[in-house]
Amino acid sequence: MCGIIGYVGPRPSQDILMSGLARLEYRGYDSAGIAVIDGEGDLGMRKRSGKLAVLREDLADRPMPDGTTGIGHTRWATHGGPTDVNAHPHLADDGKLAVIHNGIIENFSELKSELVGDGFAFRSDTDTEVAAVLLGREYAATGDMVQAFRAVVARLEGAFTLLAMHQDHPGMVVGARRNSPLVIGLGEGENFLGSDVAAFVEHTRNALAIGQDQIVVITPAGVEVTDFAGSPVEVEPFEVTWDAAAAEKGGWSSFMAKEVSEEPDAVANTLRGRIREGHIEIPELDGMDDLLTGIDRILVLACGTAAYAGMVGKYALESWTRVPVDVELAHEFRYRDPVLSPSTLVVSISQSGETMDTLMAVKYARERGAKTLSICNTQGATIPRESDAVVYTHAGPEVAVASTKAFVAQITALYLLALHVARLRGSLSPEQIAENVAELEAIPGKLSRVLETEQDRIEQLAHWMGDTRSVLFLGRNVGYPIAMEGALKLKELAYIHAEGFAAGELKHGPIALIEPGQPVFVIVPSPRAEGEMHRKVISSIEEIRARGARVIAIAEEGDAAVLPLADEVLRIPLAAPMFEPILGVMPLHIFAMGLATAKGLDVDQPRNLAKSVTVE
Ligand code: F6R
Repeated sequence: MCGIIGYVGPRPSQDILMSGLARLEYRGYDSAGIAVIDGEGDLGMRKRSGKLAVLREDLADRPMPDGTTGIGHTRWATHGGPTDVNAHPHLADDGKLAVIHNGIIENFSELKSELVGDGFAFRSDTDTEVAAVLLGREYAATGDMVQAFRAVVARLEGAFTLLAMHQDHPGMVVGARRNSPLVIGLGEGENFLGSDVAAFVEHTRNALAIGQDQIVVITPAGVEVTDFAGSPVEVEPFEVTWDAAAAEKGGWSSFMAKEVSEEPDAVANTLRGRIREGHIEIPELDGMDDLLTGIDRILVLACGTAAYAGMVGKYALESWTRVPVDVELAHEFRYRDPVLSPSTLVVSISQSGETMDTLMAVKYARERGAKTLSICNTQGATIPRESDAVVYTHAGPEVAVASTKAFVAQITALYLLALHVARLRGSLSPEQIAENVAELEAIPGKLSRVLETEQDRIEQLAHWMGDTRSVLFLGRNVGYPIAMEGALKLKELAYIHAEGFAAGELKHGPIALIEPGQPVFVIVPSPRAEGEMHRKVISSIEEIRARGARVIAIAEEGDAAVLPLADEVLRIPLAAPMFEPILGVMPLHIFAMGLATAKGLDVDQPRNLAKSVTVE
């Protein structure tokens, strides 16, 4: 939510800011702006509502003097609508100091009243302008940017990353963070700040992760980080493992098309280095054997698609480790006085590692004595830093706002975790672990086969269904979270009504929705699944078909029972039933993307959304 970049160095900054913002645009795309201190030492600013392209055109039509110090922002509106005036940067009273912000300043109205009382005027409806005016007032009192920052952050409540520069201090950008992301990029004679490494990865892969409640000053000569009280702090260096090309669209029609095609690699890369001779080794969890053997409960916390990955993980974790598992939406968790103990393992799942709801839930759990493990796709992100341990998914940068390849990588990481804990606890035999490991290793090849054999047909189907107003999704057992993921993706991308149900729940209400022609995707369990689940789902299909539903079945190769009942059958390769979700979801990702494309929609940046939800 909101992308931030800062630059100091020898080069003209406008291109650097604009290309950084292009890489950050997935974090918010309501409006964008930049501010630059030009060669004359004057501060110039340009900001426009709409996507970054609007700002780019404006700068091309009405060029602004360039300079070597600058900040840039791409916005997902919270306080104040997406207008030119509300776009960032915001200026202090004297127009010499520019501020950009990600987060929400919760006490902004009290601060604003105080400043209005002191005679300050405001142009926008944003909380950010309050921080800018406050910073300007503090700077005027001391002439010292860092001291002014310290005074301001002490007054702010809520979550924020703030970057600021003052025209009297060219060659310096100052930043502060509390519960919102900020990382440093270290260049040769130049330095960067960014909401994430995508902001500067085309210039440097050397990064530093800034901790909570810290202030950073970047100049061309170096970087200084202190805590809010002014004491120097050590910052953690890391090297970005992907290069700028990985975050490019390449020849693909959209980032999402590229990312869905990368689902096999996302699984393979998440497995890489973690399987040795038929068993799992997760180096990141070295030293945690006693803890993982001693836990008596696992609580999975996540939001949206990541929570659906968690639901799939529950089946594997409970079945293989025999530890009870609950999955909870992170934003609900800390509002109900939950029961936690030192033997509870809280597993958070987050692609971005910055989702505020999940971050707050993890902190809450940790404060109450639980052990926390993060499954995350983003190095240097806040949630892993706030957790006792992290297992990274290696899906590579996910740029399209709706999650696809990160989802299959999250499920893969959960399978790995479940097998690792099962080995430690002895709840599976070495032979059972080896069988599951072999299944896991086969997944990337099977996903590639789904792409080869089904993609064209699914896209054709999506094209035919371009006028569809409502789609239902049914699944049972491990297929149930997949039904919900299929529905979420369709809502997000194609803006149509979609709902996912547990197939067994149908008779308890949702079957009333079925009328002639209603499209229903059914994720059909393997005929080898326990509990006669296959037969039961076939019965559900019979029931909806009898009421006129148009059935699109996702069934394993060779399952003949679905043929007389389904209007369309999309095939997935054979796999042990526990591993079917990861194969069954890919057709649903392709379908949602295909339907949105057929409707002429932007699949990478759906309306009203932002990738990294850094506000509660
Ligand atoms: C849906 C989607 C979201 C995210 C959710 C959590 O396509 O992308 O539902 O899964 O906002 O985000 P992370 O994983 O970054 O915590």
